[in-house]
Amino acid sequence: MITFRPAKFSDVENIHKLLNDYAKEGLMLPRARNAIYENLRDYIIAVEGNHLLGCGALHFVWDRLAEIRSLAVSPEHKCSGIGRQLVQHLEKEGIERGVTMFFTLTYQPGFFAKCDYIETAKDKLPQKVWKECVYCPQYPYCNEIAFVKTTVDYEPSHVKF
Ligand SMILES: CC(C)(COP(=O)(O)OP(=O)(O)OC[C@H]1O[C@@H](n2cnc3c(N)ncnc32)[C@H](O)[C@@H]1OP(=O)(O)O)[C@@H](O)C(=O)NCCC(=O)NCCS
Repeated sequence: MITFRPAKFSDVENIHKLLNDYAKEGLMLPRARNAIYENLRDYIIAVEGNHLLGCGALHFVWDRLAEIRSLAVSPEHKCSGIGRQLVQHLEKEGIERGVTMFFTLTYQPGFFAKCDYIETAKDKLPQKVWKECVYCPQYPYCNEIAFVKTTVDYEPSHVKF
């Protein structure tokens, strides 16, 4: 049976391998172990027994704004609904905590469209989103596509970005 649960320290090596195997194929950005450990509370995983089937992370960025990132399903379990369920679990947690806008930067526009995300111009996202871009190997030549999903009209606090 497939279960979805928060990631633990003992999952880090498997998450690191899954993400970076895809990164080597150019399908997603690489993640250092350090970044996974520091953001471990962001991650949920799909497992069957002790076997990692997929992972995804929800990273809070600003007032009611969160990024879906590091989403990956192992090659042998793709196209069986796990990716969508990971997104749904992350969204549920985000909504419970008050998130009203989710965004993602991706090379997989078709998948996020299926998850009811809407493509948007990158410069429409708040500047706060770009804080980590200097650490990206692609910087400053970003070719990811931005997608957003809002649960209600997104209205951040009066603090300016
Ligand atoms: C993208 C990824 C996470 C999708 O996970 P998945 O478990 O295979 O996707 P699901 O089975 O939940 O698919 C949900 C729907 O999206 C569709 N879909 C899945 N991947 C797609 C893609 N790359 N392009 C277009 N549609 C896609 C499925 O056909 C399905 O459609 P349906 O509801 O009409 O049947 C997975 O393919 C993956 O790990 N890819 C490599 C890493 C990667 O690119 N990660 C994204 C980083 S942003």
